[in-house]
Amino acid sequence: MLCKYLQPKTTLRKKIPRHIAIIMDGNGRWAQKKGKIRTLGHKAGFKAVKEAIKFAIQNKIEVLTLYTFSSENWKRPKLEVVSLIKLFLFALKNELKYLNKYNICLKVIGDLTFFSEELQSCIYQAEKITLNNSGLILNIAANYGGKWDIVQGVKKIITAVHNGDLNINQIEEKTFSQYLSTSSLLPVDLVIRTGGEKRLSNFLLWQIAYSELYFTDVLWPDFNRFVFQDAMSYFSTRNRRFGGLIKD
Ligand code: IPE
Ligand code: IPE
Ligand code: MG
Repeated sequence: MLCKYLQPKTTLRKKIPRHIAIIMDGNGRWAQKKGKIRTLGHKAGFKAVKEAIKFAIQNKIEVLTLYTFSSENWKRPKLEVVSLIKLFLFALKNELKYLNKYNICLKVIGDLTFFSEELQSCIYQAEKITLNNSGLILNIAANYGGKWDIVQGVKKIITAVHNGDLNINQIEEKTFSQYLSTSSLLPVDLVIRTGGEKRLSNFLLWQIAYSELYFTDVLWPDFNRFVFQDAMSYFSTRNRRFGGLIKD
C-alpha cells in the first residue's frame, strides 16, 4: 500500500484558485500621492474591496480572505485607527443587504475581544444572518495576526488535552489546523499583496506554507478586475509541486 503522501492528488493540478487571500496594502500612500489625508485612502480602498468581491463571484472563487486590520495596526495614530474601525462598522451595517443579495457568507477572524461591544455584536449578527448563504465565503481578517492565530490554537489544543477530549499522540499537522481560526475553510491557494512590499506582515502564517504568492506595486485603491485577472493568470502558470515532482 502506498504511503498517504504518495497518493496521487488530482487537485494539485487545478489551475483556478479556490481560496484567495489578499493583503490590501497602499491606501495611505494612494491618498498622500493625491494630497489627501490617509483616511480618504481607506475610504477609496473600500470601493476596491467591492470590486474584488464582484470579481471573485464572477470567477467562482470559493473563499476570499481580506486582511483589513492587523494585530499591529493599533500602533497607528488614534485617529486613523478610529476611522478604520468606523469604516468597518459602517460596512457591516450598510452592506448586509448586498451580502444577502449576492448569496455571500461572511466570516470574521481575528481577536475580536479588542473591539467595542457594538462592533462585536454587528459582526456576530452579520455572520449569523449570512450563515446559510451558499455562494462566496467572504472571510475578513480583523485585528488578525498569524502569530495570534497560532497561539490561540495552541491554547485551545492544550485545553482539549486537559479536558481529555484529545490525546497528545493524536496531535498532527491536520489536527492542529483544526484549532486555527481558518479551520472551516479551504486551504489558501493564492496570496495577493498590493502596495509594493514583499512581506507577509503577520498575515496567515501556518496556512500559507504552500500558497502561491503574487506581489504587485498597484496601491490597493487602484486594484481592479484587471489586476485581479493578472494575479489569476500568474497562478495558472504555476507548477505546484508541494515538494514533489509533478509536472504540467
Ligand atoms: C492598508 O493600507 C490598510 C491597512 C493597513 C489598514 P495602509 O494604510 O497600510 O497604506 P500604506 O501602506 O501606508 O500606503
Ligand atoms: C498589512 O499592511 C496589514 C493590512 C493590509 C491590514 P501594513 O501596512 O500594516 O504592513 P507593514 O507595516 O507595511 O508591514
Ligand atoms: Mg501599509
